[in-house]
Amino acid sequence: MDIFDKKTDVLEQIKKEHEKFRDLIKQIEEASGSSKKSIFETLKMDVSAHHKAEEAVVFPDVKSKSDEDGQEIVREMIEEHNLSTYQMSLLDRTSVDNETWDAKFAVLKEVLTHHMDEEEKELFKQAKKVLTKDELAQKYGPFEKKEESAK
Ligand SMILES: [Fe+2]
Ligand SMILES: [Fe+2]
Repeated sequence: MDIFDKKTDVLEQIKKEHEKFRDLIKQIEEASGSSKKSIFETLKMDVSAHHKAEEAVVFPDVKSKSDEDGQEIVREMIEEHNLSTYQMSLLDRTSVDNETWDAKFAVLKEVLTHHMDEEEKELFKQAKKVLTKDELAQKYGPFEKKEESAK
């Protein structure tokens, strides 16, 4: 297949961004002081824009077209977003020199890593079940746009 025939699928874009977040998390663990704080700022801004775009562009259609089990997957994804938002706000309010910063970050890493893994497995599977390839491709543009405006 000619690669130019292939439209970007919103799920591929989400997966690509997850890879970036996994990398930023690793960088934060290896950094210290002001550079740790500034990489965290980037992670926080990008993750929150990513979550807003998922909730605005991807989740509503998946939820409305799903049965009860599928809807429950979407609800769980949103609760995990809320949990990570809360943990990021704690980190934001804590000095990077505070002895609890790394422990708070370790919890954020657990929440986000679990969330991204589950999203890639459960939510992607459900999205592919209820949306066509074309519908997923059509969501790429609006996803990017929503993400930009949320930053
Ligand atoms: Fe995601
Ligand atoms: Fe998500």
